[in-house]
Amino acid sequence: MESALSIVYREPELEDAKKIVDFYNFVGGETTFLSFEKDEYPMDEAGQKEDILSTKEQPASIMILAMDGDEIAGIGTIHSGNKIKARHQGELGIVVAKKYQAKGIGSEIIRQLIDFCKGNGITTRIQLDTRCDNEVAVKLYERFGFKIEGQLKNTTLINGEYFDLYVMGLML
Ligand SMILES: CC(C)(COP(=O)(O)OP(=O)(O)OC[C@H]1O[C@@H](n2cnc3c(N)ncnc32)[C@H](O)[C@@H]1OP(=O)(O)O)[C@@H](O)C(=O)NCCC(=O)NCCS
Repeated sequence: MESALSIVYREPELEDAKKIVDFYNFVGGETTFLSFEKDEYPMDEAGQKEDILSTKEQPASIMILAMDGDEIAGIGTIHSGNKIKARHQGELGIVVAKKYQAKGIGSEIIRQLIDFCKGNGITTRIQLDTRCDNEVAVKLYERFGFKIEGQLKNTTLINGEYFDLYVMGLML
């Protein structure tokens, strides 16, 4: 009998850095919907450690890990800049590993990211982009109130085929 999943949602510690890099490099090969391919994640362990530290110091940025025991099932992020004119805007990123998809983990991560943004006293707009043909993601974002604000043409090129990107936004 399959046992029920018990996922713990938490922010990363420095010791999680390698696991995070390995996770992103792995899921990059599971889906074409991320901006990077397998082993194309742009940070190494040292860079990820710096990112964990700088994210903790940035009051409008967060990373949330969905942990199945010691294994990362999914990661969600809000990145905000420090510039006075733009720091109210958080950029959302999310990925759930294939074997953990369709179990409610992505929805819970987004719910927690939005809660964080509502509570940090800075963020008033969350922005993300997603391929227009990523129907699961677009539907999920719309369920949380995100609206399609624009469509960028031919932003992604895969095996000679171009794909468009939606820019989506949620005002808090
Ligand atoms: C988009 C993503 C984060 C959703 O995560 P998830 O954990 O599967 O999300 P949930 O389990 O909360 O499911 C959300 C909805 O999507 C549906 N769904 C999830 N995976 C699905 C699939 N493979 N096929 C059809 N529907 C699916 C669920 O049924 C659910 O719909 P419901 O609420 O109407 O029942 C995940 O599919 C993913 O990481 N995809 C690859 C990377 C990606 O696209 N990231 C976003 C880039 S912008």
